[in-house]
Amino acid sequence: MKTIFSGIQPSGTLTIGNYLGAMKHFVELQDDHDCFFCIVNQHAITVPQDKAALKQQTRSLAALYLAVGIDPDKSTLFIQSEVPAHAQLAWMLQCTSYIGELERMTQFKDKSAGKEGVSAGLLTYPPLMAADILLYKTDIVPVGEDQKQHLELTRNLAERFNSKFNEIFTVPEVRIPKVGARIMSLTEPEKKMSKSAENQKSFISMLDDENTITKKIKSAVTDSEGTVRYDKENKPGVANLLSIYSIFSGETIENLEKKYEGKGYGEFKSDLAEVVASALKPIQDRYHELINSKELDDILDQGAEKANRRAFKTLVKAERAMGLERKRR
Ligand code: AQP
Repeated sequence: MKTIFSGIQPSGTLTIGNYLGAMKHFVELQDDHDCFFCIVNQHAITVPQDKAALKQQTRSLAALYLAVGIDPDKSTLFIQSEVPAHAQLAWMLQCTSYIGELERMTQFKDKSAGKEGVSAGLLTYPPLMAADILLYKTDIVPVGEDQKQHLELTRNLAERFNSKFNEIFTVPEVRIPKVGARIMSLTEPEKKMSKSAENQKSFISMLDDENTITKKIKSAVTDSEGTVRYDKENKPGVANLLSIYSIFSGETIENLEKKYEGKGYGEFKSDLAEVVASALKPIQDRYHELINSKELDDILDQGAEKANRRAFKTLVKAERAMGLERKRR
């Protein structure tokens, strides 16, 4: 059985972008893969976080994983900071990374541009991500398109370590979904939808109620043409809404274009709001059952135990390969 690893940052409430680009696919994968799903709270602190919000968002993300259908009997769900091997291997991989290659990462450039007091962690985020993945001998990493560059670096770091020290790491394969890989912002459709965006109207959170979803979709940027037509280049706003509609409803974009022929954006948008709200409703109901439950803590405790066992084995091998081990453990 192939191993899958994927992480999501608790840097805000999950958006439908995270869901359609990543989490939705996890549910399908867990039946025939050994899956590790991690709440990467150590990645979240590469930019400033409010401590109470971080704690709450971490728990909330765990509940959402379960609410969308992650089954703890099939998959391992855990919090990154509860498995110290992640930070330990990350340090070793930082020492085999070059500053130049880290500075070339688009996410680092985007998140540091024009900012003062950029943390060193923002630069060394990719070796931590590599450690997350490599500790579990991961074969496949399912991510949205935005993470492709980090995955390529992970592969390079694994190959570099294997050839320099010893063949310890499995070089993972990246898997990007054919649809939903890049859901765009509702207010600036040329940018991806992000959970930490300042403008609340730019994203739909997985926990938004129907009223909020309707308001956000109604105010989504479109264009003056007034035709519901998929043209990513010239009509990025409408194209994005059509993608969201298509994935949530299961209808093809072509069918949707026909359905709204001769109709304006108003009807299209209000139908879309209904489709999104009704898809999220059962997830939200299950979320509310879980969020303050002991069941959630028990699942996370078991997940941490299992992840620690697996991660420690790889860590010890990597330490041995680098000469960091005093005696055989
Ligand atoms: N807009 C998106 N469309 C499709 N997939 C997306 N992902 C993120 N945004 C979109 C995928 O979601 C997973 C989790 O991402 P993450 O939390 O680890 O980090 P991120 O990619 O930086 O996500 P955000 O929402 O943009 O977070 P912030 O705002 O904190 O930076 C990944 O698989 C990602 O590809």
